[in-house]
Amino acid sequence: MSDTREIQEKLEELRRQIRYHDTLYYALDAPQISDAEYDALFRELVREEEAHPEWVTPDSPTQRVGFAPLEKFAPFEHAAPMLSLENAMSEEEVREFDRRVRKLLGHGDKIEYVVEPKMDGLALEILYEKGRLTGAGTRGDGYTGEDVTPNVKTIRAIPWRLQSPPGGAPPPERLAVRGEVYIDKKDFEALNRNREAAGELPFANPRNAAAGSLRQLDSSITASRPLRVFFYGVGAVEGAEFPTHWDLLQTLRAWGLAVNSKSQVCAGIEEAIGFFRRLTDERGDLPYDIDGLVIKVNRMDWQRQLGEKSRSPRWAIAYKFSADLAPSRILDILVQVGRTGAVTPVAVLEPVFVGGVTVQRATLHNEDEIERKDIRIGDRVWVRRAGDVIPEVVEVEVSRRTGDEVPFRMPAQCPSCGGEVVRLPDESVHRCLNRNCPAQIKAAIWHFCSRNGMDIEGLGRKNISLLVDEGLIQSVADLYTLRVEDLEGLPGWGRKSAQNLVDAIAGSKNPELADFIYALGIYHVGSHVAQLLASHLGRFEAVRAATREELERIPGVGEIVAYSITRYFSHPENQKLMDGLLAAGITVKPAQTSSHAAEEEDPFWKSKTVVFTGALASLTRQEAGKRVEARGAKVTESVSKKTDIVVAGKDAGSKRAKAEKLGIPILDEEEFLKRIQ
Ligand code: IVH
Repeated sequence: MSDTREIQEKLEELRRQIRYHDTLYYALDAPQISDAEYDALFRELVREEEAHPEWVTPDSPTQRVGFAPLEKFAPFEHAAPMLSLENAMSEEEVREFDRRVRKLLGHGDKIEYVVEPKMDGLALEILYEKGRLTGAGTRGDGYTGEDVTPNVKTIRAIPWRLQSPPGGAPPPERLAVRGEVYIDKKDFEALNRNREAAGELPFANPRNAAAGSLRQLDSSITASRPLRVFFYGVGAVEGAEFPTHWDLLQTLRAWGLAVNSKSQVCAGIEEAIGFFRRLTDERGDLPYDIDGLVIKVNRMDWQRQLGEKSRSPRWAIAYKFSADLAPSRILDILVQVGRTGAVTPVAVLEPVFVGGVTVQRATLHNEDEIERKDIRIGDRVWVRRAGDVIPEVVEVEVSRRTGDEVPFRMPAQCPSCGGEVVRLPDESVHRCLNRNCPAQIKAAIWHFCSRNGMDIEGLGRKNISLLVDEGLIQSVADLYTLRVEDLEGLPGWGRKSAQNLVDAIAGSKNPELADFIYALGIYHVGSHVAQLLASHLGRFEAVRAATREELERIPGVGEIVAYSITRYFSHPENQKLMDGLLAAGITVKPAQTSSHAAEEEDPFWKSKTVVFTGALASLTRQEAGKRVEARGAKVTESVSKKTDIVVAGKDAGSKRAKAEKLGIPILDEEEFLKRIQ
């Protein structure tokens, strides 16, 4: 009997210690023991429980392993709706928010605010009844979310029971507490490395990883993911009152719930703005991704007095970082050799989430650009990525240099073929002059196969590199003689993948004229010029035979472009290539010339600079771009004073706002469709 008691007490003591250290680690960010010591404690509990399975309790920390998979999530009702926040994108908009708050409260003085990092994760509500975790749900539409209780129970950063702090208020009868589930940047990278090693697709960013991990029907998968949480508010509460939001945060922490330690009280809006500026600088050094700051009125009675609109409270605002700019560091500078032999310096960056994806590389354009911006290896920098454009380094934070930064020098030899790299007079780029340089050959083949060209699926840079290195292809014409037997047995290739590629290549034999012209990779002929040539000349033979004078007559085709085109087609090697492609069975579709010619006349679009933003329902952005280009417009990525028209589809964001500010005409989808009919 006493033996049994002793064992039970020992098990309970181990569990108590583990819970205690969980709280120190996750809620207070102040661990008292090392990870190894914690693991030893945990293993001891596992061992003891294995020896005495009859004494395993359902609330033991060892039970956070997941439960039987569900068919689907049950609905989870929020007793008080989970609202979202209105956004501010500039200091002026934040000051406007403050003015509104003071006006509504009839308060002339400074308002006290709490500012908190805005975590970029997934909102979650957890229900504690009498201090015990009894349910958890996602936000859903704000009223009903998905019941993810089994998943949440596997997350070690979330206690199953709340603590009663000595001398403080005990947990209330009922507490719906809200927070953001996220994954640390380091844990995210490790998670993706493991996924790639296991042949699984990596997550695009920590937020997707967190959301994907929490919304799992199989909670044992959630259990294996490094989810964390910061709590920032409450829904329905019975049995507790908080005079201020700051009190609320401190109390949550005392109950054992993790609260972001970066949060602070600010006396007045200018202090909050100052905090935002500091946070902007620090952002890259934080272990997790944030997308801005949340500013909340501290006094709860004032929060109640201000109330809420239909979707967001009047007492809080999200002050967001600009979506396409983020801080990073230059880890190294490499050079890349393009299809024209241009040797382009490329920055290897500390991974950073910007413009919707994690960016690890940015183009540095050329030597002059590096000198102009004074970019050195080791520098802290700001990186921009807007829409589909290639990420670039905008600016160096010179004030944060340590003295260990290393200036970059262009290599004298091509990293691919070892040939001489030179900078021709009047050019800003360096070039490898060896026409047989493997890097150039690979880049030209990649361009040919790319989405805007022949669009051959399965021929990315990696596979092209392999085929060239294996001696299977030397030019794009060789693609069309590849056989399944040639490919099967290459590293990582089976019969099926070989057959798929051969089929994909065969499927590309009937291209649109503009796509085919683009694919050839003629200097100065991108998608836009290719489209012009197709719509004016109609057939490939006509393009091939056109004289410089004929080409120059096409609106939008200048002297240099015309010269480049005729030079391309007169070169014997290109003629051989062209004949080879045609002999391989490529038949280029003729293009419509008459209606396109009519489109040229459209004065509405002619010479206008157009920006597309948001999603269009009836056609892709690419197609929409082609349609306005065919009418003489130029499509660019970002809105500036030079923009003439913005076409805004669904969920258009900052670009639309900017256009409104600059007074640029905005077309919605319906108006746009009318204009291109
Ligand atoms: S307060 C009514 N505080 O941002 C107030 N939200 O756009 C509601 N978020 O759905 C939210 N960090 O998922 C608040 N410190 C923070 C936050 C935060 C991240 C998320 C949350 C919310 C969304 C609002």
